[in-house]
Amino acid sequence: MKVVATSTLGQHLVATPEILIDPGLMAQIVAASADAIFSEDLDGRITSWNAGAERLYGRSAEDMLGCSTIALLPDETALQLQGVHAAALSGQRVERFDTWHLRPDGGHVPVSLTVSPLLNSDGRVVGLATSAKDVTERVQHTAELADVHRTLEKQYVALGRSNRDLEQFAYVASHDLAEPLRVMTGFVQLLEKRYADALDERGSRYIFHVVDGAARMRVLIDDLLEYSRFLRSEPGLEVVDTNAVALRAVASEAAGEVEIGDLPPVWCDEAAVFAVLQNLISNAVKFHRPEAPSRVKVSGEVVGGIVHLYVDDDGIGIEPEYRERIFGMFSRLHVREAYAGTGIGLAIVQQVVERSEGRAWVEESELGGSRFCVTLPAPPAGRAAA
Ligand SMILES: Nc1ncnc2c1ncn2[C@@H]1O[C@H](COP(=O)(O)OP(=O)(O)O)[C@@H](O)[C@H]1O
Ligand SMILES: [Mg+2]
Repeated sequence: MKVVATSTLGQHLVATPEILIDPGLMAQIVAASADAIFSEDLDGRITSWNAGAERLYGRSAEDMLGCSTIALLPDETALQLQGVHAAALSGQRVERFDTWHLRPDGGHVPVSLTVSPLLNSDGRVVGLATSAKDVTERVQHTAELADVHRTLEKQYVALGRSNRDLEQFAYVASHDLAEPLRVMTGFVQLLEKRYADALDERGSRYIFHVVDGAARMRVLIDDLLEYSRFLRSEPGLEVVDTNAVALRAVASEAAGEVEIGDLPPVWCDEAAVFAVLQNLISNAVKFHRPEAPSRVKVSGEVVGGIVHLYVDDDGIGIEPEYRERIFGMFSRLHVREAYAGTGIGLAIVQQVVERSEGRAWVEESELGGSRFCVTLPAPPAGRAAA
C-alpha cells in the first residue's frame, strides 16, 4: 500500500515507509528544513518553495511560484539536470547529485540535489520534489585541499630533486677532490725523500705542513663522503643487533675503557647504526679530561616502542648553550691542536637518526661528562628475533 499525504500547497507527497503522515505536519517539516525544498509540475513550473529555498536562492515563494525551474539551471549543467529530471519523472529517486544551480542574481551556487517523483493517489507521477543542500563550504574546502595538495606535491618534487643534487654534489666533490690531493701529497713526499739533503730545517718544516694539511684534507673528504652516503632519504630496514655493532665500534677505537650494556635491537640499517655508535663512542673517548682517559658507558632501553641508546662519558662535558649547535656541520668547540676532528661526526649522527624519524640530543651525564642520546625505531612485532 502506498500512503499519500497532501501538502498545504496542494501537492501529493508520498511518504515511505508506509505510515500515514498528517499533511499539515508534513508542511511544517518542509517549512522548517534548513535545506531548500521545492516542487514542480510536469511542465517544470514551480508549485512550492520553502523558506530554505528562499534563503538559498535569495527569492521569495511569491516571486518563484509559477516560474519555470529552467531559470535555476546554468547552461553548462542544464543537459545533465535534464537527465536527472527524466529519471525522476520515470519514477526513480536521484539522491545527492552534486551540481550547480543559478541564483536569479546570476550567481552560481554549488548544491547537492535529491530529486524525487511526486505521485498522486493513483500512483501516477504528477511532478517532482527537489531538495537542494548548499554545499559551498564543502566545495571551498575541497578546492582548498586540492590547492594544498598541489603545493605539497610541487614541494615534494623540488625537495627530492634538491636532495638528489646535493647527494650527487657531495659525492662528486669528494671523489674529484681526492684525486688531485693524492697527486699533491705524492709529489711533496717525493720532494722530501729525494731532496732531504738540499733542504734546511725551515724547508723540511714547510714540507711537513703541506703533508699534514693534505692528510687533514683527506680526512675531511672521507667524512664528507660518509655524510653524503646517508643523504639518501630511505634507510634500509633490517633488524640490527646493536650489541654486535657497538662491539665493532669499540674495537675501532684505540684507547679508552668502554662498557656496553644490554642494548635492544633496532629497525634500521647496520651501516647507519654503526656510523651513529662509532661517532658517539669515538667522541666520548676523545673528549676526555686531560688528566685521565675516558670511562664510557653505552646503554639502551625501549621507551614506548622506541629504542633509546645512550653513550655516557666522564669527559670534559658540554656547556648547555652549545648542546644544540654541536650537531651542525663543521661545528666544533675546540681548536684542532686540543682535539683533532672535522666537526662532521655529529652531523652524520643527526642525519642518520632523523631519516629514521628519530632524534639526537645531548645532556649532562651522571658519570660527570656528556650523555648523548639517540632514538631509533624498534623492530616491528614478530621481527625482533630475526
Ligand atoms: N663526548 C663529548 N664530550 C664533549 N664534547 C663533545 C663530545 N662529543 C662531541 N663534542 C663536541 O661536539 C663537537 C662536534 O663533534 P663532532 O661532530 O663529532 O666533531 P669532531 O669529533 O670531528 O670534533 C666536538 O668538536 C666537541 O666540541
Ligand atoms: Mg667526532
